[in-house]
Amino acid sequence: MNNQTVISHFLLLGLRISPEHQHLFYVLFLAMYLTTVLGNLIIIILILLDSNLHTPMYLFLSNLSFSDLCFSSVTMPKLLQNMLTQDPSIPYAGCLTQIYFLMVFGDMESFLLVVMAYDRYVAICYPLRYTSIMNTKLCVSLVALSWVLTLLHSMFHTLLLTRLSFCENNVIPQFFCDISVLFKLACSDSYINELMIFILGGLVIVTPFLLIVVSYLQIVSSILRVSSTRVIHKVFSTCGSHLSVVSLFYGTIIGLYLCPSANNSTVKDTSMAMMYTVVTPMLNPFIYSLRNRDMKEALITVLCKKKISLW
Ligand SMILES: *[C@@H]1O[C@H](CO)[C@@H](O)[C@H](O)[C@H]1NC(C)=O
Repeated sequence: MNNQTVISHFLLLGLRISPEHQHLFYVLFLAMYLTTVLGNLIIIILILLDSNLHTPMYLFLSNLSFSDLCFSSVTMPKLLQNMLTQDPSIPYAGCLTQIYFLMVFGDMESFLLVVMAYDRYVAICYPLRYTSIMNTKLCVSLVALSWVLTLLHSMFHTLLLTRLSFCENNVIPQFFCDISVLFKLACSDSYINELMIFILGGLVIVTPFLLIVVSYLQIVSSILRVSSTRVIHKVFSTCGSHLSVVSLFYGTIIGLYLCPSANNSTVKDTSMAMMYTVVTPMLNPFIYSLRNRDMKEALITVLCKKKISLW
């Protein structure tokens, strides 16, 4: 056997916050995390309680909120705990768990955005056959298929990762376990892992993106055929939120991977990572509910019903 020391934990040293600012940032991150949890929980509960919202679009949205909630719960509680205890370490198994679940909920988000785009495409291009096409069976199958693909994909990468061995260097310049950072730390060859990430990751991110673009092209061409302002207004009001969430999701990914940072700029990497692990999941519920009359009405109905039943 070679004389490599086996690493039992990693150090998450992404956020270099000076001691006098620790409290400020702790409160800020806690507030952001609580906002994410509350915002997404409210959406899930509203959709569950209000039977007017039991349509495919809102059921998918509720799945998306669930994914967002879990996605930020993979990294934020650990970050907050590490800040509180002033101990940046994470055990090896904890690191693999973070990577696995980050991938699961990240992929899930990407697949759900495609499913939602398909739902909008059917609603706009085939309005009369919408309810017969988007029936319960198809909706459940689409969500189930997304889960199966995402679980298999994440399991595959996590198992491949266990092949790598790590030596002395256990400092992760990030505030959570990022799979690409682990490849750099590994002292065994990570060529196969990186190749698989490149091929499969490309499929999981690029294919959904192309499918979304294709559905929107179809939607736009059907609007151009009708070209009445009332129709255009209706399309924007039903697709606007989805389009904003899609831009936010793919905008961050493109910013992160297609504009590589010059000479290891950790500040940029960390802030981009903050953007997609914390800010995006926090904003999604607001994007969907602020401009949406159905959601507001549901909130009022639920609150009023509560009041009446309390009386
Ligand atoms: C997710 O979507 C499926 C299919 O529409 C639905 O049956 C299920 O209730 C949703 N789950 C959540 C947590 O919203």
